[in-house]
Amino acid sequence: MLQDTRVAVDKTWRRLLKETRFVRNWAASPLRTGAVAPSSPKLAARMASYIPRQLDGPVLELGPGTGAVTKEILHRVPREKLICLEYSTDFCNHLRVNFAGLKVVQGDAYNMDKAIPGLRSESLSAIVSSLPLVTRPPKERLKCLELAFDLLKPGAPFIQFSYSLASPVPLDMEGMKWQRSGWILQNIPPARVWVYRKP
Ligand SMILES: C[S@@+](CC[C@H](N)C(=O)[O-])C[C@H]1O[C@@H](n2cnc3c(N)ncnc32)[C@H](O)[C@@H]1O
Repeated sequence: MLQDTRVAVDKTWRRLLKETRFVRNWAASPLRTGAVAPSSPKLAARMASYIPRQLDGPVLELGPGTGAVTKEILHRVPREKLICLEYSTDFCNHLRVNFAGLKVVQGDAYNMDKAIPGLRSESLSAIVSSLPLVTRPPKERLKCLELAFDLLKPGAPFIQFSYSLASPVPLDMEGMKWQRSGWILQNIPPARVWVYRKP
């Protein structure tokens, strides 16, 4: 009887830890987590829809968090072609348990070239980013996009979601092409997807 109760308490505790993971990470580091809830399936699917069908090189996901977007990316990208770069130890552990065999690198996406050794210039087919870019100064956001453009193949997309009205990075970079989705209302809060393609 006592053993049964212990097992039940253990189970409930584990479920509670799982369900509150995102909010706990947000409470520990609000600016770095940048959202109070994981991305909704609608937002995740919209982000993944911009990944090219034809993949010559790997795809890099920045700030995968709980893996809501990762799950959608994996509907389009073979697991061995996806690299996830995440800062939080807790999210990295969670991703390694929930997506066995996925390459999860713990590191700083604002230094993505150094965080993932061996990444070559112009080798990536897409970058999908959930980074809360707007919590960083404009100079750092631009540097992040420039690093990304250096790693992407010509014409390959940098896919970013944002809750803001304006683009999180300036749109006047010479030769850069961009597009944006409509508002995805089934997300908390509503968001839209910006896609930038290198000059
Ligand atoms: C908006 S949340 C991710 C939402 C994610 N799509 C989900 O549904 O769980 C932003 C994520 O970016 C990560 N992050 C923030 N700054 C980072 C950095 N410098 N390098 C890598 N990851 C970072 C956070 O730890 C968090 O997982």
